[in-house]
Amino acid sequence: MKITIFGTGYVGLVTGACLAEVGNDILCVDIDEGKIEALKQGIIPIYEPDLDALVARNLAAGRLSFSTDAREGVEHGLLQFIAVGTPPDEDGSADLQHVLVVAETIAEHMNDYRVIVDKSTVPVGTADKVRETMAGVLAERGVDMDFDVVSNPEFLKEGAAVGDFMKPDRIIIGTDNARAAELLHQLYAPFNRNHDRVIAMDIRSAELTKYAANAMLATKISFMNELANLAEKLGADIEQVRHGIGADSRIGYAFIYPGCGYGGSCFPKDVSALEHTANQVGYQAQLLEAVEAVNRRQKQVLCQKIHAHFEGDLAGRRIALWGLAFKPNTDDMRDAPSRVLMEYLWEAGAEVVAFDPAAMDEAGRIYGEREDLVLVNTPEAAVQGADALAVVTEWNIFRSPDFHALRKALKSPVIFDGRNIYDPAQLRTDGFTYYGIGRNQ
Ligand code: UGA
Repeated sequence: MKITIFGTGYVGLVTGACLAEVGNDILCVDIDEGKIEALKQGIIPIYEPDLDALVARNLAAGRLSFSTDAREGVEHGLLQFIAVGTPPDEDGSADLQHVLVVAETIAEHMNDYRVIVDKSTVPVGTADKVRETMAGVLAERGVDMDFDVVSNPEFLKEGAAVGDFMKPDRIIIGTDNARAAELLHQLYAPFNRNHDRVIAMDIRSAELTKYAANAMLATKISFMNELANLAEKLGADIEQVRHGIGADSRIGYAFIYPGCGYGGSCFPKDVSALEHTANQVGYQAQLLEAVEAVNRRQKQVLCQKIHAHFEGDLAGRRIALWGLAFKPNTDDMRDAPSRVLMEYLWEAGAEVVAFDPAAMDEAGRIYGEREDLVLVNTPEAAVQGADALAVVTEWNIFRSPDFHALRKALKSPVIFDGRNIYDPAQLRTDGFTYYGIGRNQ
């Protein structure tokens, strides 16, 4: 099938490469000339396991190409995917301007039937706005041309995006039209392992499904973080509680890991956008407000523990940070808990020596050169002479360090474990002062 994808960000690029991989003819369009030039040479602007090989293979096979020419894009694909960004507006709502500009562009150039597929995370009602925008442009052009709009939200996890796309739990197709529904079913047929993964529904329900999934996952995390804080006060151990509740198949073990707060480009933005959508229709989403508030507070937990340990005396201290990305297997630092911690430490006059397996360049880009941030190339170098170690991201490489060497390298053997990856009892035996999240041991 011939398909055009507008937007070569995270979602657009993964979608394009994966759809090419199963034999489709994909053209990815972006207004960023530098990015498109790089992509034509197979240079990927983001860190995502397996994506570079996938792009290279499909570029070489001629199934995947890149362009800045919107007209060419509209001519190319029967299906026109919109996968541009929907950044948060100042008030927390999703900013739709990029999505609607693409809708206008498609309507300006189309000469035949097109199916517009909303892949970006967009508030409920966006498909209607896309339809209205396009109808307006077509009316101005004085042409009467048929098109359909479909909502097909994505559920990719950063760091596992290619696998998530190729082996989806479900494929949500929101449409009110049989012709478009049939085309989307055909498109996704190669991804139906064992049974049909497609769940078809009306457009508004599809749009809401995306937000509902992320809000549900964020709620699970904030719930566990709340319980972790409570466990600490009650002398219970949240890790044992986690095992105890996860065994109930109605609850399950997924997404109930307490930590130093959720980050990334999705949960914070989507919870806030859904809250905003609720407000717009006169409904106060109290649970969502609490999920956000608990997360904001949770990002302070490591700061508070460090403050308490050093009795506020942080000026001139050196704190080692393991992990900068908001989670492992990505270089993304958007809304990362590491940022809250570093900014707190700087404010208190401490120096941060940090290592992350993927996000070092990103940290340099965000914070630039500053005296109180030293980026080093190994976990060992970060802890050398440091007053304490804070683990902020649970990369595998941090899970089983040489504790003996670690204790010798640190000026004082103190570990703040923001992801509960260590065994408190063992660390105490090894001579460390250990602080986890919600631990009593
Ligand atoms: C999330 C969803 O998991 C995807 O399904 C969705 O498609 C995506 O958002 C999106 O809307 O684009 P992502 O943001 O890549 O994916 O990352 P997650 O793996 O979900 O992690 C989000 C945050 O939650 C991380 O900061 C992570 O450390 C934290 N987390 C996760 C916990 O604190 N505890 C857990 O048990 C799980």
